[in-house]
Amino acid sequence: MSLLIQNGEIITADERYTADIYCEGETITRIAKDLSAPPGTEIIDASGKFVFPGFIDPHVHLHLPYKDTFAKDTYETGTRAALMGGTTCVMDFCTPAPGQDPMEAFDIWTSMSMGKAACDYTWHLSVTRFDDRTEPSIHRIVADEGITSFKIFLAYKGALGISDEELYGVLGLAKRLGVITAAHCENADIVSSLQNKLISEGKTGPEWHYHSRPPYVEAEGTGRLMTFARAHDAHVYVVHLSCDEALREAMRAKHAGVHAHVETLIQYLTLDMSYAELAEFEGAKYVMSPPLRKRSNQDILWNAIRQRFISTVATDHAPFDFKDQKYEMGKNDFTNIPNGIPSLEERIKLLYTHGVIKGRIDIHTFVDCASTQAAKIFGLFPRKGTIQPGSDADMVVFDPEHEDTITADTHAMNIDYSAFEGWKVMGRPEVVTVRGEVAVQNGSFVGTYGRGRRIQREPNHF
Ligand code: URP
Ligand code: ZN
Ligand code: ZN
Repeated sequence: MSLLIQNGEIITADERYTADIYCEGETITRIAKDLSAPPGTEIIDASGKFVFPGFIDPHVHLHLPYKDTFAKDTYETGTRAALMGGTTCVMDFCTPAPGQDPMEAFDIWTSMSMGKAACDYTWHLSVTRFDDRTEPSIHRIVADEGITSFKIFLAYKGALGISDEELYGVLGLAKRLGVITAAHCENADIVSSLQNKLISEGKTGPEWHYHSRPPYVEAEGTGRLMTFARAHDAHVYVVHLSCDEALREAMRAKHAGVHAHVETLIQYLTLDMSYAELAEFEGAKYVMSPPLRKRSNQDILWNAIRQRFISTVATDHAPFDFKDQKYEMGKNDFTNIPNGIPSLEERIKLLYTHGVIKGRIDIHTFVDCASTQAAKIFGLFPRKGTIQPGSDADMVVFDPEHEDTITADTHAMNIDYSAFEGWKVMGRPEVVTVRGEVAVQNGSFVGTYGRGRRIQREPNHF
């Protein structure tokens, strides 16, 4: 199997040039002008188009249990939607339920994904309990299965959240194993106090979600993570950072020498808290944690991406239907609304339109924050995250002139609404390849379920 992408403008995190890309099997083998290819080679004309490295979403929930329900995408529907949006590698979270051994969760995630994914994937291992019983399984998963990032929740107390004692232990282990720890940073006790107060005052609608998780709740969690990281010289990754207050905590720590990386989400860059205030319970579509913030935070986040202080832009894709899940479960109490704003399919188009076209970030920063940094931080680089000989042939031929309107009527995600319904976007992943196989052609899915593989990684954060 060979593939030749001709005459595209190749754009990576630091280079821009026009050339042909030849791929043999799953790998890029040559990049030069006017390459010839043996008979039988599949040829794609990329004249007038950009060729980007396949985009990587480092924060996606494909299998996500919540109370008695599950997020709606599966490894089939989620990876198809990812590819339609130009994302060729997703990072999900293998998350043990309370009381479950991590190895059991690992087996569940394996059976959910194996033979089903259309694009490559890897997992963070959520450490939802840390003691003598779980530590051996955690070791095994890192050493034998190539899962080299942890995820911890400082929120969701009583469910997935861990105590400060556990946090101290997890970061110590992470340092010893050379893995990075991704953290959901919110103060769980303040959240539950505020939730109880609001509900007791009859403030039960989705518009109150924000008020149960104000910025200081996130700033406290971020600052606490940094304190504990410093104690072990551990490497940490703040997921879904949403606001100025939390950013300041991360910046302060980073300037003091903490090995901290920061992720924000496309939702925080494009939506604000007024969406969660929409009437007729429509606001529930926009409930996620941390909550959407005041619009004034957006310039601050864009600026931090431009300065490459924020490393990655992810989605925290967590798709719950509006009607049967968000509304039915949360209509009497916003604290029961399943959290999440699905956007796996739209991240790249939104980031290109609102970032590059609007002049907030340049095109190299766009590639960096949507692909290269995730690959570097999570041990996938240079196999993924760039275009060079030896890298996996994961690429996106992108038509920058294509205009589209986002709508749930046509999206590929398995979800009954779009948070961006009616929004105009520029640019479309026209051809997308997964290790040398064309998975999207003319913007339509032509990929193969089962083609996607779980990528094993090496520890890279000693
Ligand atoms: O609202 C969110 N973020 N839902 C998904 C779970 C998480 O906290 O990442
Ligand atoms: Zn989270
Ligand atoms: Zn998440």
